[in-house]
Amino acid sequence: MNGNVRISGTVNVPGDKSISHRAVMLSAIAEGKSRIRGFLHAGDTLSTIGMMRALGARIVESTPTDLLVEGVGLRGLSEPGDVIDAGNSGTTVRIGSGILAAQPFLSVVTGDQYLRRRPMKRIVEPLRRMGASIAGRFGDTLLPMCLRGGSLKGIRYEMQVASAQVKSALLLAGLYASGPTTVVEPLPSRDHTERMIAAMGAKLARDGREITVQPAGRLQPISVIVPRDMSSAAFFIVLAAAVPGAELQLPGVGVNPLRTGLITVLRRMGAEIRLESLRSEGGEPVADIAVIGMPLTGTEIAPEEVPSLVDEGPALCVAAALARGRTVLRGAAELRVKESDRIGTMTAALNALGVRCGEFPDGMWIEGPARIAPGVRCDSRGDHRIAMSLQVLSAATGTPVGITDTACIDTSFPGFRGLLSEVVA
Ligand code: S3P
Repeated sequence: MNGNVRISGTVNVPGDKSISHRAVMLSAIAEGKSRIRGFLHAGDTLSTIGMMRALGARIVESTPTDLLVEGVGLRGLSEPGDVIDAGNSGTTVRIGSGILAAQPFLSVVTGDQYLRRRPMKRIVEPLRRMGASIAGRFGDTLLPMCLRGGSLKGIRYEMQVASAQVKSALLLAGLYASGPTTVVEPLPSRDHTERMIAAMGAKLARDGREITVQPAGRLQPISVIVPRDMSSAAFFIVLAAAVPGAELQLPGVGVNPLRTGLITVLRRMGAEIRLESLRSEGGEPVADIAVIGMPLTGTEIAPEEVPSLVDEGPALCVAAALARGRTVLRGAAELRVKESDRIGTMTAALNALGVRCGEFPDGMWIEGPARIAPGVRCDSRGDHRIAMSLQVLSAATGTPVGITDTACIDTSFPGFRGLLSEVVA
């Protein structure tokens, strides 16, 4: 590691992506006017705005991060005049399908070259069981996909994978069903949908790993203040945690316990991370995060921890590469079907940079501390979180790394590079 790297300052990361998507979708099907502040203005969440506008909701962008949404009510959406393009956003398609599957009209959904490769069977199968007609490419498993819904019935569904997107799709479809819908999770995943629909008046109950939603006549409009995104903060948390002497403040970050697995793992590796002024905003826990850089040591990440850090895999790899000893991640096969195969993409990039690492079918191992070869060119494979992680590794080690396709960063974190350059000296 380059001993001359200095990391210090305050980083205001943008609004939470998951909560921004849900706030737009749910306020569009509420009855009346909702206000969303702190909205993430980025490629993925703009895809969700596009989808809900195509379905007839009126969404006014007062500023890029402040939205006014005129909800049309659960049954007020109308047939879109064209194909809905979700771009790179899996959340738009998968959670959105829960709404589309309940509509008595035809919707056709597609996405970019990466999203068109991502698995959709996980939502197609249960939504069909609820009564929706769905057809798609490659045996109804890939986009483009056509959905025609109507009268859905409630089901009990045991999910094979811990997926907040699948859970959310079924809970939203369940609002329209003729009876209760129960989703059983193999492991707990982020619960932003449950929190938001309950705040909007839907009847929802959790019993252990089961969540049951009752059919809803209407959803009340909401006023949401979106917390800053833990998954975007993750890049800066890793940067500061792994560079001894670093000091970073990240105010107002969402610290929903189902999203903070990275902090738990980094603390186990020796990181000093404090959650200060813990408070509740808009039904979600929020804190100011303070990170002080320490020498880190490798650790084992258990399968049960994976859902709480599912988007932080690439950032965690950077911490592992900078830590002394071996880090092992298992039970993380889901990482292979994200915006890229994050196990394969990260292993290839780290290997090219001279980091000792290898793959398992469901995870990877990394041995640090790495000495990064300068000037190597790595492929982000169009994956925003890979591109940002490699930039963090470059910044932490003071080593130039060439990264292909960094434009994809705009899908979740426009302005990332500017914020990074502000805290690195
Ligand atoms: C998300 C859930 C996760 C996550 C994605 C956002 C959400 O996906 O990886 O970035 O907003 O519900 P899975 O449901 O596929 O785990």
